[in-house]
Amino acid sequence: MLVLGIETSCDETAASVVEDGRRVRSDVVASQVLVHAEYGGVVPEVASRQHLATVVPVVKRALAEAGVAPHDLDGIAATCGPGLVGPLLVGVELGKALAYALARPVVGVNHLAGHLAAVFLDYLGNPASPAYPHLALLVSGGHTLLLRVDGPAQVKSLGATRDDAAGEAFDKVAKLLGLGYPGGVVIDRLASQGNPEAIDFPRALPGRQDLDFSFSGLKTAVATRIRARGLPEPEQMPDFCASFQAAVVDVLVRKSRRALKRESLHDLLVCGGVAANRGLRAALAAAAEADGFRLFVPTPKLCTDNGAMIAVAGTWALARGERAPLDLSVDPGLPL
Ligand code: KG4
Ligand code: ZN
Repeated sequence: MLVLGIETSCDETAASVVEDGRRVRSDVVASQVLVHAEYGGVVPEVASRQHLATVVPVVKRALAEAGVAPHDLDGIAATCGPGLVGPLLVGVELGKALAYALARPVVGVNHLAGHLAAVFLDYLGNPASPAYPHLALLVSGGHTLLLRVDGPAQVKSLGATRDDAAGEAFDKVAKLLGLGYPGGVVIDRLASQGNPEAIDFPRALPGRQDLDFSFSGLKTAVATRIRARGLPEPEQMPDFCASFQAAVVDVLVRKSRRALKRESLHDLLVCGGVAANRGLRAALAAAAEADGFRLFVPTPKLCTDNGAMIAVAGTWALARGERAPLDLSVDPGLPL
């Protein structure tokens, strides 16, 4: 079964062909980062126009790299939410047009379900898939969620952020530090050369027994410190980034461990852009070793937005018999 996945929910135009919900035949991502960096964040209307200009070439390249002709496809999947309404419409309209022209089924995929599905892809030797039920930590630019996953479409939220998402905290702090947009990957790189104990940044809600997160206090602590002492000198930047990153990672790891214990789960799946963070990956690997749970994290390229994760979630939906009508629309606030 060959499925084309189209992802245009934010600022990456992505398309991928996945075989049998597992084998990535192609994985093309055109990032708009340089366009939006000028504004310090994603400008929705600019993103829509970029997607319009890029999506057809990206899909053509995904088909070519997979060695697949359009008529070889068995189905098409496009992200239909959550995300930015204009960008989502570009992907969904193309998905429907292709489905109509090729007389193939189309499904709308929830972007978050896509992130959760990414770990099941066999990509550069990913390990075996997690079992159901499992715990998922979904950490992206828009979401920070702890989920109990009982099956591909059976997901229950155990905890969420009360304010900023983890990726948003990385991006906002990077902006405060003058490190540009998007900031997660820059902080990750600098943090790898710094001392995480150099500055004692606050950990939000540490003693509470719930599984919620809060990152706005940490962001304020960073802003207050910069106001009081000025921007760190370049040679202090690694320590500053390592200390900030440690505050985020600490809380994510602590609450994940608590959720695993409380729910008696033995597999932890981590996904979303922040799952690419090396500090988080290392801390979770150490926790897995200490507590004896199995850890599943996609390869970094599959943590951030991509078409392969949409294709695999779409493959599952098609296999369940789901079909979207040709008036399928998008929902910027689509819940999981
Ligand atoms: O999943 P994603 O690509 O898009 C959304 O669905 O939001 O996640 C993007 C977020 C951004 O906030 C970005 O700064 C963050 O993931 N991110 C990282 C890293 N790579 C991407 N954060 C920390 N460390 C990274 N290596
Ligand atoms: Zn995402």
